[in-house]
Amino acid sequence: MKKYRVGIIGCGAIFMLHAFPLHKMENVEIVAVCDIKPQALETAKQLFHCDGYSDYRELLKRDDIDVVHILTPHYLHAEMTIAAADAGKHVLSEKPMAISIADARAIVEAGKRNKVTIGVISQNRYNAASVAVKEAIANGSLGKVLGQRVILSWTKPASYYQASDWHGTWDKEGGSLMIDQAIHVMDLSRWIVDDEIVSVEASIANRNHPTIQTEDTAEGLIRYRNGVTSVFFATNNFTFNSPVVIETHCENGTALVEFDKGVITYKNGKELTVVNDPTTTMNEADFKAFFNEDSSQQAMRTLKEWGVVFMPVTWKAPRGYWGVTHNKQIENYYASLAAGVQPDVTAAEALKSTELILGIYQSSKEKRPIDIGKELTWAPESA
Ligand SMILES: NC(=O)c1ccc[n+]([C@@H]2O[C@H](COP(=O)([O-])OP(=O)(O)OC[C@H]3O[C@@H](n4cnc5c(N)ncnc54)[C@H](O)[C@@H]3O)[C@@H](O)[C@H]2O)c1
Repeated sequence: MKKYRVGIIGCGAIFMLHAFPLHKMENVEIVAVCDIKPQALETAKQLFHCDGYSDYRELLKRDDIDVVHILTPHYLHAEMTIAAADAGKHVLSEKPMAISIADARAIVEAGKRNKVTIGVISQNRYNAASVAVKEAIANGSLGKVLGQRVILSWTKPASYYQASDWHGTWDKEGGSLMIDQAIHVMDLSRWIVDDEIVSVEASIANRNHPTIQTEDTAEGLIRYRNGVTSVFFATNNFTFNSPVVIETHCENGTALVEFDKGVITYKNGKELTVVNDPTTTMNEADFKAFFNEDSSQQAMRTLKEWGVVFMPVTWKAPRGYWGVTHNKQIENYYASLAAGVQPDVTAAEALKSTELILGIYQSSKEKRPIDIGKELTWAPESA
């Protein structure tokens, strides 16, 4: 069995959702981590007994690293992904793949040019509800898709942006609500309809976050080649992270993703409900066991001395509001590498959702529908 040697760049909030599943996989070894913040770097090194770098280019110079995970602020994804691919590494990047359309396309090219596998995280495709809905539509039992609605009403208090040196900016985050939070539901909606997007007509606004440059509200309509239209509304101005809704209306019934629950309702009265099985996803018990190991306790003590709040310290329910299936996508990525096939979410696949998000921004700015195939030119400078 080939053992994949892995480097992780970026040891912030999402770090454990990558490092922990990797740590548990038999055919993977975390050999190096990288962060520009010394405390984050030191903690990650201690937790996983590996080497540490403050300059990612030094990590990429190592010829004993096969795969690199990129978990940094959005504006760094393209630069780091392309540099890693050019260094001959396979890459699994956090979403979004990039914040400009030119960079997103360049990532796909870099993967082809270097014959490496570039994957992009879209973990909610692995939620039981998403899988059930996708399957019910793909197997034809619901008949043709007629239309779709997508609703996301979450909360991002001002303190969330105050605590970050990159969220809430066009140049570093590349937008906020759509490219960071709603990208998950938009990716699922497109994956469920499973057709080419022709055009996007949308508007974004900042209604209640005066301290940030970017949007906290968006609505719009997406037209697919097969005639389906998908309507969406998203906001970060609600008072809690309420369950997301993706309802797909089909000839023979409806398929609903509501948070962790999938409900398929047929016109003949038959109904199928699927809920998440927490034992198959990342869960609190696993984390507790890990942090009870001696070495991990030492790392956590160091961390507390520094006054750093690292996610698992306050972990009551892993990302209670949605999306604890990183482990499943990471397993699919490595199984695909081992089998010499493409993973579920390749750079080319992620490009389609990136086009959708950037098309929404461009449509809002230009106040007209954007033909995704012909007119998309978006970069953060266009904002
Ligand atoms: N899939 C999901 O559900 C999910 C959830 C949260 C975050 N994310 C994504 O994960 C990524 C990281 O988000 P986060 O919340 O962990 O952010 P974060 O700010 O908590 O962590 C980012 C880390 O990158 C480090 N960094 C910055 N510049 C660097 C550089 N030049 N070299 C090395 N390290 C550098 C920072 O010091 C920080 O520790 C983003 O793309 C975000 O959208 C995904």
